[in-house]
Amino acid sequence: MYPQRVLSGMRPTGALHLGHYHGVLKNWVRLQSEYECLFFVADWHALTTHYDSPEIIADSVWEMVIDWLAAGVDPNQATLFIQSRVPEHAELHLLLSMCTPLGWLERVPTYKDQQEKLSEKDLSTYGFLGYPLLQSADILIYRAGQVPVGEDQVPHIELTREVARRFNHLYGREPDFEEKAQLAAKKLGVKRAKLLLDLRSRFQEQGDEEALEQAKAVLQEAQNLTVDDRERLFGYLEGARRLILVEPQALLTEASRMPGLDGQKMSKSYQNTISLREDPDNVVKRMRTMPTDPARVRRTDAGSPDRCPVWALHQVYSSDETRQWARSGCESAGIGCIECKQPLIDAVLEEQKQFRERAEPYEKDLDLVRNIVADGCERARELARQTMRDVREAMGLDYS
Ligand code: TRP
Ligand code: SF4
Repeated sequence: MYPQRVLSGMRPTGALHLGHYHGVLKNWVRLQSEYECLFFVADWHALTTHYDSPEIIADSVWEMVIDWLAAGVDPNQATLFIQSRVPEHAELHLLLSMCTPLGWLERVPTYKDQQEKLSEKDLSTYGFLGYPLLQSADILIYRAGQVPVGEDQVPHIELTREVARRFNHLYGREPDFEEKAQLAAKKLGVKRAKLLLDLRSRFQEQGDEEALEQAKAVLQEAQNLTVDDRERLFGYLEGARRLILVEPQALLTEASRMPGLDGQKMSKSYQNTISLREDPDNVVKRMRTMPTDPARVRRTDAGSPDRCPVWALHQVYSSDETRQWARSGCESAGIGCIECKQPLIDAVLEEQKQFRERAEPYEKDLDLVRNIVADGCERARELARQTMRDVREAMGLDYS
């Protein structure tokens, strides 16, 4: 309905690591040349769990943006901003909270999971319960169609879809909707209007999903519609209301299971990470001492890559050829573990060299980063304001 806009956010709670790069940032970099992208620092989200240590957030905000830039996120292609500098997110969160049933939030799996996992913190707060709804506001305020996230976040996108649907259902009614939709259809021209209405009846009367998709494609291609008419017609296809908020899709990140130095998923809480701009000597030292197949005690023992954390990293960094060399060398005790690790060490250092080069100008002059983010905040705010005008109007808050 809108040009496919991509939005994603990241919580500023410490240095980013290679798991973030391979799981998230590489994907952002790819997306930025294909779509209009907005990437933001989710500082309010970080506060929901770090309300007692906000200094961690303050320390991480600029470093995280530098990490993004180091990874190749390009401020000329994507809009980079900070959540709390677009206060409209908070207004939409508040308005959505009016019509979001408590049960929807209590049922989000991350709510109980995180409370149990972070049991040393008191997370029975209002803000923490509202976390996924704040995320919904982040997404809906930009009418983003695609949200790149990891698997754990999929329930949040599902919730966002439900919230948007409910909002449209409650506030998307206009007294003369039917006539307005018909008028809007006429603007497509006689032939296309008829096609659209035929497809609509096929969907509404026979539940023909394909007809719905076709009808959406017709609207997608129509150039001469105003935003309002487009919203009406999209709403009209599926029912009898305007679609003010757009239901987003989760864009699942493929390689989100980057292995850490111990073979478990790379994660700060397991202390098995390599940070994006980690000191090279440190990288070498930590990779050399990585555990390997525990059954391979002596150099002459044959090993089994499937039980080895190093092998998991070969899946990420090595060519087929190198992998074959490592597997057969391991299984025949033809190579030692240090040898096996060397191509990986080289690959990680090579990757990080690029990160450090890109980051250097920003590390030297933080004003460059501040300016990029200031520009991004301004752009994001303009988009957010447009949606808020529609939302306030739909809810009848535009008193005059
Ligand atoms: N909850 C996300 C995470 O923990 C971060 C986030 C906040 C986000 N708002 C968002 C991601 C909006 C995508 C879209 O990773
Ligand atoms: Fe692991 Fe490689 Fe050693 Fe085999 S040779 S145990 S795959 S590090």
